[in-house]
Amino acid sequence: MTDKTVNKVNGGLKGVITIPSDKSISHRAIMLSSLADGKSIIKNFSGGADCKSTLNLFKDLGVEIEYFDEKTVKVTGKGKLTAPTKELDCGNSGTTMRLCSGILAGQDFNSVLIGDESLSKRPMKRVITPLELMGAKITSNDYKAPLRIEGTPLKGITYKSPLASAQVKSCVLLAGLNAEGETSVIEPYTSRNHTELMLKYMGANIEVHGREVVVKKSTLEPRNITVAGDISSAAYFIVAGLIVPDSEIIIKNVGLNPTRTGIIDVVKRMGGDIEILHQDTISGEVVGDICVRYSELRGCDISGEDIPRLIDELPVIALLATQAEGQTVVSDAQDLRKKESDRITTIVNGLKSLGADIEERPDGFVINGKTELTGGKELEVFHDHRLAMTYYTAGLICKKDILIHGFEWINISFPEFEKMFTALM
Ligand code: S3P
Repeated sequence: MTDKTVNKVNGGLKGVITIPSDKSISHRAIMLSSLADGKSIIKNFSGGADCKSTLNLFKDLGVEIEYFDEKTVKVTGKGKLTAPTKELDCGNSGTTMRLCSGILAGQDFNSVLIGDESLSKRPMKRVITPLELMGAKITSNDYKAPLRIEGTPLKGITYKSPLASAQVKSCVLLAGLNAEGETSVIEPYTSRNHTELMLKYMGANIEVHGREVVVKKSTLEPRNITVAGDISSAAYFIVAGLIVPDSEIIIKNVGLNPTRTGIIDVVKRMGGDIEILHQDTISGEVVGDICVRYSELRGCDISGEDIPRLIDELPVIALLATQAEGQTVVSDAQDLRKKESDRITTIVNGLKSLGADIEERPDGFVINGKTELTGGKELEVFHDHRLAMTYYTAGLICKKDILIHGFEWINISFPEFEKMFTALM
């Protein structure tokens, strides 16, 4: 286990950084190009362990996948997958397990999806239930991994999802690609839509009507995909720029898909100085550059349709709120308890130990600011990359050094994280 000491930064964070690859898009790029018939080149592929789990899993399903260099991958799909000869290891990645269960349920072979200790505790009922409605045959350990999937023909359904979850939506849509008839998913709020955009980009028969997505049996065309930078990784730099006095950071190549930009809206609601400098579209996704500066902030409410648009940023938004005057209330975020850790309990306890005024609620937390973070504490990350990165960011403003146990968990999504911070100091 790697321990990391973080000290208060002297002076502001200043400079220009280019944010690395989006995890959600990288997963989907491997999955969809593996299903296509022919060669796809994926540029700016994620170096994180989660996306490597997806890549290795599709190799185990007979897909030819080669690295040209660290960030460029060639995928040669055959338009079909082949039976694996071993259990398929999703590592720590919920996206891999949930989306692949949809892909595997309708195959003409059996498969077993396994995960690490943390993933094996996470709920899979949310995908098993709709897949069973489509005719899938899945046995599990009380709705948790390992998932034993007996491949079987599927039929399309209309699924009114109780959750605004892109993993659930994507699982059902990917199963629908290979199901008889039409498959439709309706969400309570729109979750990230990378699957829909990439399916469209690769020629699938897909339509979106508000919160409903409809897919029909489709074959996918191989395409070259350049992956946008990850706004969830940019979030640590956005928050650091706002809370470390005298900072000004330009963050380039950030994915600005509107289903992911909840953090930018919240920063604006808090009165933060954030600007989009330039925008473009690559491989069907909006990307742009962001400029953020140290700001006086005020608390705000975050709830309802905000939540799926910033779900992964909530730990670092909690840190941001400790530096805003007044109250910030996060509600409707109960699903945070089902992430790599119970992110409501873990972040509340972690920030409280650093000196924040933060209280847990069943579906979120309440923060009263602005409080000076005293630090001087040791923190556990509970196998959770986003806690490791949030605590590092907090350490930059803590009066006394903090010690993070398990800092290596950053490698799940963002191996370049610390190097990029150091470049701004
Ligand atoms: C993801 C969807 C979200 C998010 C996760 C990645 C995806 O999960 O938290 O990190 O790539 O589809 P939910 O669908 O469970 O909200």
